[in-house]
Amino acid sequence: MPIHTRIIKADQDSPDPDAIHSGAEVILSGGTVIFPTETVYGLGANGLDQKACLKIFTAKNRPPDNPLILHISSLEMLDGIAVIRDNGLRRKLARFWPGPFTVLLTKTDAVPDAVSAGQPTVAVRMPDNRLALDLISASGVPVAAPSANLSTKPSITDSQHAIQEMSGRVDLIYDSGKTSFGLESTILDVTTSPPRLLRAGSTTVESLREVFGEIEISEAARGTVESDVAITPGMKYRHYAPEKPFFLMESVDEFRRLENLDTHGLGILAMGADEVCSSDQCLRLGSLNDLRQIGHNLFSAFRQLDQSDFTMAVIHPFPEYGYGLAIMNRIRKATGHRVVSVEDILEISGDLKKL
Ligand code: TXA
Ligand code: MG
Repeated sequence: MPIHTRIIKADQDSPDPDAIHSGAEVILSGGTVIFPTETVYGLGANGLDQKACLKIFTAKNRPPDNPLILHISSLEMLDGIAVIRDNGLRRKLARFWPGPFTVLLTKTDAVPDAVSAGQPTVAVRMPDNRLALDLISASGVPVAAPSANLSTKPSITDSQHAIQEMSGRVDLIYDSGKTSFGLESTILDVTTSPPRLLRAGSTTVESLREVFGEIEISEAARGTVESDVAITPGMKYRHYAPEKPFFLMESVDEFRRLENLDTHGLGILAMGADEVCSSDQCLRLGSLNDLRQIGHNLFSAFRQLDQSDFTMAVIHPFPEYGYGLAIMNRIRKATGHRVVSVEDILEISGDLKKL
């Protein structure tokens, strides 16, 4: 049964108090709200209310063993949900918050099972977005929120996509335009020593190392393998993917070779950095000098592909440091780890005579 979705236009940098009040009312009455964060839109509910959190899973078709992030608006809120014995750790977290950084901590009993999915840990973050912070503090409870997309779809970076995809599935959607980063938060497990990177994201590993020291990078965080069980349950599901076939070219040179062929009529969309794209057909994602911009445009490019007449798409590899680590993780997942040469692509498109 579809539910009635209220859509409220709100400025994400200086939201109207009435708009915040309406959202907090929905959260406190056990409903669901789609709100902007600095990374992607979140689909939120009262993070201390098991029944409300279960609605998130229904709205997204999310598998129940995939735990949720609790969003907080102050460090004080941490105490109710996580065990932090060490003040040093609290200070380290404060250096990254508010910001696109999620930490895995030992949970308290106040955290419902729906949030932790049976794990002894809870994921927590303080988003750097005025509307999100105001909504959480007006609600007075941590807000559980995964990305607002349907399960297996790319995360939502623009409220128009939220309205298209999620109307009838949630109680309220804030229509607040585009998010500022466009890739999800970085997830660090600090319950292990050394801390372990579970998901590359909008906070770079280099900046985390300056504060946390040594950090182990799991293969799942690079995106080179899919993790199978428990550590990051979410990582085992296909994620961030366009519906149409999508491939990673084995190198920038190979990508250029393909672009130099006449692939008109083959229905192949090339997407890449401004400096690499040579044909005017190429979907330009931004400059290599500003990887954040490229990250920002990636998920909406996936959605553009699905809405276009192209039958498949290719992208080239990006440098794997700084923000590039998160970009490559998303690309590897979105392409289902399919790395191809020009010959592979022409074979797939059934047109080897082009060579
Ligand atoms: O930027 C973001 O992090 C966005 C915004 C809305 O905050 N949220 C987001 O949530 O990307 P979601 O649910 O799409 O991704 C969170 C990931 C999932 O893969 C989940 O498995 C993992 O975090 N996670 C959450 N709690 C966990 C836990 N206790 N142990 C291991 N992994 C956990
Ligand atoms: Mg997600």
